[in-house]
Amino acid sequence: MLRSRVSLTSKVILPQLTKTVRRGFVTTTRLYNSQTTDISSNQYANLYQGVKDSKINLNQPLDTFLRRHMGPSPSDTDKMLSTMGFKDLTEFVKSVIPPQILELNPLNLQAPQDGFTEQEMLKHMTQIANKNNYKVKNLIGKGYYGTILPPIIQRNVLESPEWYTSYTPYQPEISQGRLESLLNFQTVISELTGLPIANSSLLDEGTAAGEALLLSFNAHRRKKNKYIIDKRLHEQTKDVLKTRCNPFNIELIEMDCYNLEELTPILENDPQVFGCMVQYPSTDGSIIANETLTRISDLLHAKKNTFTMVADIMALTLLKPPSEFDADIALGSTQRFGVPMGMGGPHAAYFAVTDKLSRKIPGRIVGISKDRLNKPALRLALQTREQHIKRDKATSNICTAQALLANIAANYVVYHGPQGIKNIAKRIYGLTTVLAETIKKGGIHKLTNDSWFDTLTIELNEKYTSEDFLKLAFEKYNVNIFANDSKSVTLSIDETVTTEDIEILTKLFNEGETLEIDFNQIPELPQEVQRTDEFLQQEVFNAHHSETAMLRYLHRLQSRDLSLANSMIPLGSCTMKLNSTVEMMPISWPQFANLHPFQPSEQISGFLELADSLEKDLASITGFDSISLQPNSGAQGEYTGLSVIKKYLDDAGQSHRNICLIPVSAHGTNPASAAMCGLKVVPVACLPNGSLDLVDLNAKAEKHNDSLAAIMITYPSTYGLYEPGVKEAIETVHSHGGQVYLDGANMNAQLGLTSPGFLGADVCHLNLHKTFAIPHGGGGPGVGAIGVRKHLTPFLPTNSIAPPPTATTKSISAVSSATYGNALVLPISYSFIKMLGNKGLPFASIMAMLNANYMRSRLEKYYKILFVNKENGIDHCAHEFIIDLREYKEKHVEAIDIAKRLQDYGFHAPTLAFPVPGTLMVEPTESENLEELDRFVDAMISIKGEIDAFIGGEGKGNVLKNAPHSLEDIVSSTDWETRGYSRELAAYPLPYLKYNKFWPMVTRLDDTYGDMHLICSCPTVEEVSEE
Ligand SMILES: Cc1ncc(COP(=O)(O)O)c(C=O)c1O
Repeated sequence: MLRSRVSLTSKVILPQLTKTVRRGFVTTTRLYNSQTTDISSNQYANLYQGVKDSKINLNQPLDTFLRRHMGPSPSDTDKMLSTMGFKDLTEFVKSVIPPQILELNPLNLQAPQDGFTEQEMLKHMTQIANKNNYKVKNLIGKGYYGTILPPIIQRNVLESPEWYTSYTPYQPEISQGRLESLLNFQTVISELTGLPIANSSLLDEGTAAGEALLLSFNAHRRKKNKYIIDKRLHEQTKDVLKTRCNPFNIELIEMDCYNLEELTPILENDPQVFGCMVQYPSTDGSIIANETLTRISDLLHAKKNTFTMVADIMALTLLKPPSEFDADIALGSTQRFGVPMGMGGPHAAYFAVTDKLSRKIPGRIVGISKDRLNKPALRLALQTREQHIKRDKATSNICTAQALLANIAANYVVYHGPQGIKNIAKRIYGLTTVLAETIKKGGIHKLTNDSWFDTLTIELNEKYTSEDFLKLAFEKYNVNIFANDSKSVTLSIDETVTTEDIEILTKLFNEGETLEIDFNQIPELPQEVQRTDEFLQQEVFNAHHSETAMLRYLHRLQSRDLSLANSMIPLGSCTMKLNSTVEMMPISWPQFANLHPFQPSEQISGFLELADSLEKDLASITGFDSISLQPNSGAQGEYTGLSVIKKYLDDAGQSHRNICLIPVSAHGTNPASAAMCGLKVVPVACLPNGSLDLVDLNAKAEKHNDSLAAIMITYPSTYGLYEPGVKEAIETVHSHGGQVYLDGANMNAQLGLTSPGFLGADVCHLNLHKTFAIPHGGGGPGVGAIGVRKHLTPFLPTNSIAPPPTATTKSISAVSSATYGNALVLPISYSFIKMLGNKGLPFASIMAMLNANYMRSRLEKYYKILFVNKENGIDHCAHEFIIDLREYKEKHVEAIDIAKRLQDYGFHAPTLAFPVPGTLMVEPTESENLEELDRFVDAMISIKGEIDAFIGGEGKGNVLKNAPHSLEDIVSSTDWETRGYSRELAAYPLPYLKYNKFWPMVTRLDDTYGDMHLICSCPTVEEVSEE
């Protein structure tokens, strides 16, 4: 199976387009282009083709995308420009972006000049998709299995904007639905592993294993440096562990953990060992003996070391749970609970720990707290442990995770119930056993594992090589299996496998002979490995098994949550833009969903063509030479980019360089990622006007001249400003031998207008789940693709099973389990770029800036806008701006009061307290129209009146402190006489709310109570009945 994927040199095949002058293709390259990008209002109007335009042209398609993606129409644009004193978009852009930053060379995208129409896009996508062999039965296994996504969940969760467009549930009052679902996920994990605390997902099995490694390492304050792994871990997990070990000089010792004679001495006597990880069942399919697990655990615990089990979630429904072996950590993937293989991701990894480790668990935990009315309510517990607080002391950089996929997995269990999932597992085991017996009976090949759940490893008859056998399996039986080496193969049975498939496999392993198979006997796992406890007895897992019941349950949950389907979510630094239906559709097509990440490259040429073209487009947009799509979140992109820099420095004999400069305004994941790469973080000051302090930067760069490895800069800055001095800062760092990492979370202000490459950076990450239209999913999935300059290209991450075309002997090892990370969501970004096209894409940034500046200009009459004001001499923000509420603190009005009150007005709050405590950062994106912008501004103006009332001692000001108001509060509370304001004011402060009201499910939550009383799985029936 070890092979390199061939780079596709062929161009994207574009569908037949109507022959108009406007719909041609870019032929010139970007660097030597004498043309400049047309960013005028006139050009916007040309591309927009409004529905109100009565003139049609028979050559002109009527389903163009740009006007569906952008909020402001050309006439609204003119209105907005004129309120700010501009006549044209060109003039506006030139006054917002400093001249030394603006770069108007046309983009060189593999796309029509003004983008595909929606129907052209779907046609094009179908052509690409059909190049993938998605009908072959993928029994490759190795952590990725066929599964059946129940159609009710596909349509009502995966394909429902109410689930996929919501944000991470930081505002719990308007997120109770997905918080309940994530609590269900945690409960499933906690019950199946037997461990009391589970988080609400990590990125994938490999990175979760990386988190376990570092948690174990930190438990001994990094004083011990040897970690044992069983040789039967999946290869991709070993790869990620290797990457994570590097910066800390941790020695990863691969051993046969089944062999206690070999293992015991090292666990007993080597003082440097801090933990051990085994897989259950192992990658070859065998199940490590109970006594061996218990012995390993005892030996580790005798030295206060940590025991981690990577456990298959489906197998855990039948096998004894990790808790029975005193495991400290259990982790794995929940992909096979209904989430398509999707070429390797996105899937939710799980991570569960003992009580002792509850405050050390990475990622987010949903906990139970109570609201103002003492009603139980859910929230993200221990939020203050986030990287924003701990910065470089943080032990994990995980931010965006896999919430949407965790919700799918949780709902899979809700729908099937405990017996349902057990039956699925029993069937898998039964069919595997039947197959094992026929292989043994046939006697041609040798089954090498004597225990299994779903995976069999077979040593081939000497007549065959693995290569021949895989060819035979594919060509004659339409099945893909895995080659371990030249003489042995592995295959895994999954939920989708039928008795007919087993008959086919029997023929494969018996040289075409059909053996008699008895499907009537139901084999059972040996008694000693079977779990005997009852699990998932909570009502939620035993109540929604009919489609009607499930539909209503899903609907009930989604109606408790505010998503983009309700109103704008103006979260600064999060870019909650349209995730269009056309962009989303291909992710549920089997042509993409059924692909296995280790499927031979010739079977996935459509996907590879898409990835190659997306990489080229992103290279053009970033001004870089190469792209890696492997990192599966923004923070992962940071980690990858810095690891690439480190490897480059090592290669250049500069390993001693270990200082990473990071401005104090940086997102918390920046210092956390730097620390995870073994870099020492040195903060750089910012000036009172928000800009980078270049004097401080110079001094720090000078001081660390010999040890400077890198600087991490966010551009436009996390304050939403186009700092004019960024190029100078970059030059300074380069002149001291450092590399420049640009955090591209704010790429939505750069598309076609400037680029990290143009600014002089060496590497950047892009949050495709922000700028490039992948939905936020309520907390993931994400893609943190990185772009690099040529000198860093050889170091981009590889994957030992399926290396990407960029792989070289210098590549860093894998940063996530699959070569293309969260591959299944890549069609979304691909379509976003291709539908806007070379001419349209820059307008995404321009409209984002226009919307932000329009809102800012209206709000500055009522609120202080941080940094963008007359005193600072800064007239415009980039694509986001900060409302400064700190002056009200001494009058006892906090930013959180305004954030909560916005919920009563039907809005999700802007980003609270980042990057400056006591502020709200507003980012409207380009997809919001003038009406929605005004509605938000009007709400904020109305709230200003309430702030004044509170400060002035008027009773009606209390409405801020009690916000948000749930329906229950309005109807049932008995203290209305004493509140000083009416129910009407609480619920309907502005007229539009009478028509369009979103009710928060609960009132304001008690954060402290939630953190002090950590309950993070569903209460059991007994607990409920005791109450
Ligand atoms: C500036 C910045 N950098 C990095 C990140 C981390 O991205 P992710 O959440 O995908 O890990 C974020 C996320 O909000 C961000 O705003």
